[in-house]
Amino acid sequence: MLDIKTTILITEEQIQKKIKEIALSLNKKFKNEQVIAIGTLKGAFAFYSDLIRSLSCRVLCDFCETSRYGKKKEPSKEVKLTMDTTLNISGKHILLVEDIVDQGYTLNFLQSHLKNHNPLSLTTVVLIAKPQKIRERKCQVDYIGFEVEASSFLVGYGLDYQEQFRHLPYIAEIQSLN
Ligand code: IMP
Ligand code: MG
Repeated sequence: MLDIKTTILITEEQIQKKIKEIALSLNKKFKNEQVIAIGTLKGAFAFYSDLIRSLSCRVLCDFCETSRYGKKKEPSKEVKLTMDTTLNISGKHILLVEDIVDQGYTLNFLQSHLKNHNPLSLTTVVLIAKPQKIRERKCQVDYIGFEVEASSFLVGYGLDYQEQFRHLPYIAEIQSLN
């Protein structure tokens, strides 16, 4: 097993405080409305479950999964939908909940995919945004939890490195792989 050193970048307290702030705003926006909250697996599962439990509007839960990983080690620019949503989103308010936006390929793909089904509205919330300068694909993000300076690899609170670290209650930066 690899000995991987990490340092905490965003604490559990900071994450939970930010979620309450975002939820407050979403609760105002969707007051008396029904929203289909779509979580992107696997990375957003922790953020999604904390966020939706802070929502006071009517929420229907759905999930989808994408993959950017081709046969080579580098993530491919092509995004594949490996699991689609199950609910009919046409004419509905959609809240897309994503863990992290890096180059923007995943979010750009998902937003186009969802828009093809003619939702009434599409609101995107992302826990972490990596530096804007590395974004190659335009995607509209309505709520960003944390804009990080570092373009290093982040783990924890749903984010993984080779499926490790998802269970951590905080976000950490990978320091070194020994
Ligand atoms: P993008 O398509 O380049 O914006 O990458 C977005 C996807 O790549 C996210 O949904 C994550 O699954 C994954 N990803 C990007 N950066 C990181 C990271 O630092 N840690 C873990 N996963 C990441
Ligand atoms: Mg993701």
